[in-house]
Amino acid sequence: MSTEAGSHAGREPQTLAGAQDERLERLHSYFLEGCSENVRPALGATLERARVVRDGYDDPVVGDDLASSWYASAAVVELASALELDEADVRGAAAAVAEACALPLSAARFVLFTQSVGNERLLELPPLAAAEIQLALMLGLDVLSEVSLWRRTAGGLECILSLGGVGDPSRRIRAEAKAVLRGRTRLSLLGGSTLRSVPVNRFGQPYAAVVGRVGSVEPDVAHAYLAEAATALGPVVEREQLLEHSASRESTLVGSAERRLMRLGFDLHDGPIQDVLALAADVRLLQKQVYPFVLEEYREQAHGRFDDLSSRLVELDRELRELAHSLETKSVISRPLGEILHREIDTFSERSGIAATLEIRGDPDSLSSGQRITVFRTIQEALANVREHAAASAVTVRIRARRSAIEVQVSDDGIGFEVERALAKAAQRGRLGLVGMAERVRMAGGTFEIQSAPGGPTNLKLTLPRWEPL
Ligand SMILES: Nc1ncnc2c1ncn2[C@@H]1O[C@H](COP(=O)(O)OP(=O)(O)OP(=O)(O)O)[C@@H](O)[C@H]1O
Ligand SMILES: [Mg+2]
Repeated sequence: MSTEAGSHAGREPQTLAGAQDERLERLHSYFLEGCSENVRPALGATLERARVVRDGYDDPVVGDDLASSWYASAAVVELASALELDEADVRGAAAAVAEACALPLSAARFVLFTQSVGNERLLELPPLAAAEIQLALMLGLDVLSEVSLWRRTAGGLECILSLGGVGDPSRRIRAEAKAVLRGRTRLSLLGGSTLRSVPVNRFGQPYAAVVGRVGSVEPDVAHAYLAEAATALGPVVEREQLLEHSASRESTLVGSAERRLMRLGFDLHDGPIQDVLALAADVRLLQKQVYPFVLEEYREQAHGRFDDLSSRLVELDRELRELAHSLETKSVISRPLGEILHREIDTFSERSGIAATLEIRGDPDSLSSGQRITVFRTIQEALANVREHAAASAVTVRIRARRSAIEVQVSDDGIGFEVERALAKAAQRGRLGLVGMAERVRMAGGTFEIQSAPGGPTNLKLTLPRWEPL
């Protein structure tokens, strides 16, 4: 885990003795100290929830105990997911819990661990990031010196995470994982090995295995930690499998949809664009041919009309080429997303006269290529609707790349519409803008929602899950 500046590394927990109802607040100060501005709001929200826990108990001492240990575990998860937690922090947090809850240190560590690995915030993270936090806590608490997570694959066995070891996990560790996945546990007890392992079950079957090398605790204690970790890893591993399934389905579907679009772009280029060029040549020829027959006094007028026709054809050619170009996928994947969106939005503004703003937070280039295409095409389609239907004076496109998801919002200040009715009517007329957008997003495992009403404004929002840790 990170040891970047701003972590709590090396700091001793403060003395938390004091008035009972101040323990939670002092624990909060302990965590706040040294954390970056980014995590402060999350820690503040965690404190608020902990106060609710505390105030829910008649006995203030019991309430404060529970709230303090709950707070510490939630704060550990917040810091870890912001990459601001290191091993010294974990030990410091355990010592702080021991003091706040008047528990022996070993018990405080176990409490902190079980509550942290089971914290529901972990399920918002990309699964591998969550699993990494869960496993790294055992290293931070010195329960294990090395730990790895294994999964069964079609061809055998795959190590999906390995922490604390030097280089790849050893053959013994691999053998241990294999044995667990075959339903045999604690093989390594024979021969006094320092390895301990547990299965992560799914529908009662070992689906993944965690193998750890015992650190500075008794092997049985390490085993207890591993068993807790395996329970907490169940839903995380399950989610990982679901997302992986979505990701591969997404890339297949996006791939075929994009191939169709690209085909359309080529057809446009080979058909209508060539026709327009031929038409423009015909117009020039016609001009030459009819000129001798036009009376002197009408020549200038005829000239003007031909010029007008020619420039409309030039414009039509340009529009068709732009359209063909926008159907091309290559640039969406190969250029930075921010850059192509800025270009798209500038062109939109120029051509429609509607003021358009793009706000990007986080790194949009951390999206998978399928997700980038989904984001780009949805924004294209949403802007087309704003131009065609909204009578808006301004539109804002907001992209927020968060650690758990990517959010896109397109808001216009136009006339709005009745969503249900418009969708039903559009379907009847074979209009597929909104329906297509929703479908694209659904294919990518995300959510899509439109808020609008006659009189406006219109707000379109989509969220795509992250498959991979940042
Ligand atoms: N931003 C918007 N402001 C006002 N009305 C909108 C907006 N977006 C969509 N609509 C309404 O919803 C209807 C359906 O939109 P949709 O994109 O599905 O179809 P379309 O734009 O009519 O046709 P297509 O997108 O297939 O060219 C539109 O006809 C319009 O009445
Ligand atoms: Mg449309």
